[in-house]
Formats: sequence, C-alpha cells, structure tokens
Amino acid sequence: MITGKTGVFGIIGDPVEHSLSPLMHNVAFKKLGLDNVYVPFHVKKSDLQSALMGAESMGVKGLNVTIPHKTAVIKYLDAVDPAAELIGAVNTIKFDENGSEGYNTDGMGAVKAIEEVTSVKNKKVVILGAGGAARAVSFQILLEGAGSVSIANRTPDKAVKLRKDLREKLGADAKALDLGFDLEEELENADILVNTTPIGMYPNVNQKPLVTEDMMHAGLVVNDVVYNPLKTGLLKEAEKAGAEGISGAKMLVYQGVEAFKIWTGIEPPADIFEDALMEELKKL
Ligand SMILES: NC(=O)c1ccc[n+]([C@@H]2O[C@H](COP(=O)([O-])OP(=O)(O)OC[C@H]3O[C@@H](n4cnc5c(N)ncnc54)[C@H](OP(=O)(O)O)[C@@H]3O)[C@@H](O)[C@H]2O)c1
Repeated sequence: MITGKTGVFGIIGDPVEHSLSPLMHNVAFKKLGLDNVYVPFHVKKSDLQSALMGAESMGVKGLNVTIPHKTAVIKYLDAVDPAAELIGAVNTIKFDENGSEGYNTDGMGAVKAIEEVTSVKNKKVVILGAGGAARAVSFQILLEGAGSVSIANRTPDKAVKLRKDLREKLGADAKALDLGFDLEEELENADILVNTTPIGMYPNVNQKPLVTEDMMHAGLVVNDVVYNPLKTGLLKEAEKAGAEGISGAKMLVYQGVEAFKIWTGIEPPADIFEDALMEELKKL
C-alpha cells in the first residue's frame, strides 16, 4: 500500500517500457518489507535536466538510468563515483541531503556474474564490442584485478579509443583487435570472453555469433550480456566447445542488486531478483 511515507525510486529512459528493473526492485522491496515503490519514467533527451531537477525536488530517493541518458546525465549530477567517472557513464543515481550522486553498476553486475564461476584476478579477458557496456565491463574488470583486456570491435577506431582510455586512465595492459585473425589468436589462451554487442538478441536469435565453437576452448568462461534469449547463439557455441557460459540475465540481476545496496544500504539476496526476472523472461 502506497502512503505518504513510501519512498519513491524509478528508472528514466527512452524507451523505458521494456525495462525489467521495476519488476525486480518492487519484488525485492516487498519481500524485504521495505516501504518503497519503483516506477518507470519515460524521459526524452530534451527533458533530461528538468526531469532530474523535478525528481530531486519531489523527494525521489533513487533512479536507474538507461539508454540514451547514461552519459548525458553526468553533467547534471552533484557528484560522481570514481569508477563511473572513469567509465564515463552512470546507470544509478542516489539522492540524499548532499544532493545527487551517480554510480555505474553495469560493470559491477558483469564482474559479480563472472565471479560466481571464476575469479577475475590476473585473468586475460577478451571483450567483443566497444560501446557503453564494453566500457563499463572493461574498466570494472580491470579495477577488480583482471590482468589484461583486449577489445575486438566492428569499428576499429572505437576499440582503439577504448584501449587508449584504459591505458591512460588505469595504466592497464589493453589491446585493440580486429574481428578476424587477431581475435582468433587472442582467444587461444584467453580466460574470459565477454560479448557486449547485441548480436543474437531477440528477435535476431539466429544471427551468427562473432565467436564460434572452433575459436573457443574448455576452461574459457563466456559471458554474454544479452539476456533474451537466456541461451544465445554464442552460449550454444561455448557449450559445444566445453567452455562455461553465463547468461546476461546474471549481469542484469547483479546490476540491480548493487543499485539496491547503494540506495538502501541493504544487500538483498540475489535470488529474489533472479527468481522475479526468470519468471518474466520465461514468458517473453
Ligand atoms: N545484461 C545487462 O544487464 C546489460 C546491461 C547493459 C547493456 N546490455 C546489453 O548490451 C548490449 C550493448 O549495449 P551498449 O549500451 O554497449 O550498446 P552500444 O553502446 O550501442 O554498443 C554496441 C556495440 O556492439 C557492436 N555491434 C552492434 N551490432 C553489431 C553487429 N551486427 N556486428 C558487430 N558488432 C556489432 C557495436 O559496434 P560498432 O562500434 O562497430 O557500432 C558496438 O561496439 C545491448 O544488447 C544491451 O541490451 C545488457
């Protein structure tokens, strides 16, 4: 029951109606007995600043931020967490008496998902894609102790730009690769592969993955950030090669868990988020 005391949280994006975050957070608030509600807000680019000012004025306690606002939102915040500053994107905002502070839990979500299976410490990581998700995952995995990151992207200039940022901002061992021989060679002794491209995402479930069975090996851990379908073409190829696959649903769960922690100070059991998400994904 919503009362005058209910804490309001939400997500801003354009579009926003597809988001599964309201479901996960509302189930978690209810299960943990917290008097909070989480709502989707459809905010257009031109309304971003006024939406944030309005949210703060109306006492909204926290927001998730999704496409296309993750980078643009930074200039309107009072403070930005160092990792989000490095990544250059914010997906979580906390409002309190000190104003607004931005965080990025996408990278944390991916790292937590991978760490359910293997430690990232000193590992050789290959990342497919060089967009927003690639930035979040590559910075965060290096901050958590990965040994090296190699970026393979369709548009080489973007991989080179990300490599430059990783080297300059973190002093990291980073490489840029093409999607052909470079990638194949790099995967021979890689420990972790993360796909951050939308390839294989519903409805394009039969799109050929960038990496196929012959390029993978047993012992490789493969994380696809795509969560619909749960078993993408890439994860099917990984299975055939004896590699261990992780669905993007895990990243989605953990980015939500981390945002929840930032807002409430409470670490919610990940199972609450995961069960709610799985039930919904089965319907899609
Ligand atoms: N599971 C989660 O919690 C979670 C969280 C965040 C994002 N995601 C997912 O991550 C994906 C990427 O999001 P983003 O924000 O990083 O997008 P983005 O900034 O637009 O980047 C997309 C990347 O994918 C590459 N790409 C797209 N289509 C391709 C194709 N047909 N062949 C080769 N490369 C292709 C692009 O290459 P170019 O540079 O050449 O264009 C670019 O590097 C989306 O599917 C999103 O839903 C999942």
